[in-house]
Amino acid sequence: MRFILHTYGCQMNVRDSEAVSALLEAAGHVPARNEADADLIVVNSCSVRGKAEDKALGKIGLLCATKRERPTRIIGLMGCMAQRLGDDVFKRVPGLDFSVGTRRCGAIPRLVARVMAGETAIREISSPDETPDVPDAHGASGFAAYVTILLGCNRRCAYCIVPDVRGPEFSRPAREILAEIAALARNGVREVTLLGQSVMNYGRANAVWDASDAPSAQGFKEPFTRLLESVAAIPGLIRIRFTSGHPSGCTDELVRAVRSLPQICHHLHLPVQSGSDRILRLMRRGYTRADYLDAVRRLREAMPDFALTTDVIVGFPGETEADFEETRSVMNAADFDNAFIFKYSPRPGTPAADMLDDVAEEEKMRRNQILLEDQDLRGVAANQRLVGTVQEVLVEGPSLRNAARWSGRSPGNKIVIFDPTPATQPGSLARIRITRAAPQTLYGEAQI
Ligand code: 5AD
Ligand code: SF4
Repeated sequence: MRFILHTYGCQMNVRDSEAVSALLEAAGHVPARNEADADLIVVNSCSVRGKAEDKALGKIGLLCATKRERPTRIIGLMGCMAQRLGDDVFKRVPGLDFSVGTRRCGAIPRLVARVMAGETAIREISSPDETPDVPDAHGASGFAAYVTILLGCNRRCAYCIVPDVRGPEFSRPAREILAEIAALARNGVREVTLLGQSVMNYGRANAVWDASDAPSAQGFKEPFTRLLESVAAIPGLIRIRFTSGHPSGCTDELVRAVRSLPQICHHLHLPVQSGSDRILRLMRRGYTRADYLDAVRRLREAMPDFALTTDVIVGFPGETEADFEETRSVMNAADFDNAFIFKYSPRPGTPAADMLDDVAEEEKMRRNQILLEDQDLRGVAANQRLVGTVQEVLVEGPSLRNAARWSGRSPGNKIVIFDPTPATQPGSLARIRITRAAPQTLYGEAQI
């Protein structure tokens, strides 16, 4: 069948979709050119905010309606919303052929075969705490790849649906992760991003962690830093990233690993969520404003070029103007390179859903807008400071807009557009002198 996947949500979902595509191809299906051309469509959904769910539900409803004209079309749902809605989804979306939970996406090729044999409304959803079946299949997709190392989440932040839909933490065995990355490197991948909801918790909660699979010459004791050291020893890889972070994971050992292993990019996505201690406590984030800023200080003291990005929620229940001002000021103090701002959205079953969602929608919008404007100014200033510096850029190839200029990414994950030299090669590191900065992009020249 000709298939297409629609992916909503975070990098975890992007990675799961990539694995499912690779498995479908291995089972003999072929990627469709576009949706109209597809006879198998899978929607990979996100539950993190009500709007994200509404979008995916709307999309899947429209797709199922197209089955009236195209009765052989197969429509499936995967991801967080599939997990959350369980059987209900078949009532809400008549015509849906299958729905697969977060820990079973590897089953999709088998489900497609069953639908082709005549079944419909197949529910393949486990309890979220079953041992996941993590597919290690990758497509041929350029120089950068995602690798999931930690599934689920053991924190119970008051607003967050993730522990319900992705289950408790499960760390994949180090030897599986290392084999997957070594195979990627052999196939030309130069950069991996290690994924987990609280990625530095890797190896802490479940028993599959075996220290002998990730030996440490540098004397690291923590599973995550040992894993980083082992990944850095894989030949061919030139860059390692990991996301998302939590301040409690920013240990001295982590700082030492990031500084001493040259492949690790000096960049971290470290969601702050709020700058008010009162709100952080209500959110059950497990740190104070001072703890957060201390983690930032230790990273930047060790690595002055360290880039930080973040997530912030505005309008959490009870957030006052004074709390909001604290968030504004923490963002200034941390001097983020980039920030994603979200309006609080109550999620069924979470502790915060029992609190009064008392910040009006217009007020959430106003706070959202103010933080975006603050961040734009800060982001421009951060980019301006890079003018005149030389950045190591992982070269992707000719840029989409103008093939005479090439593009790549800096260690801080910024897009860099530059004039290549005859020696510039895709998939290599180039030294680029930055000559100009725009809010989202840097421009420069390759150094010989
Ligand atoms: N409402 C709004 N934003 C949320 N996030 C998580 N849960 C909610 C919610 N209920 C945001 C957090 C998280 C990002 C992925 O989504 O900022 O870091
Ligand atoms: Fe959305 Fe969270 Fe699920 Fe990612 S883990 S897809 S952000 S609900």
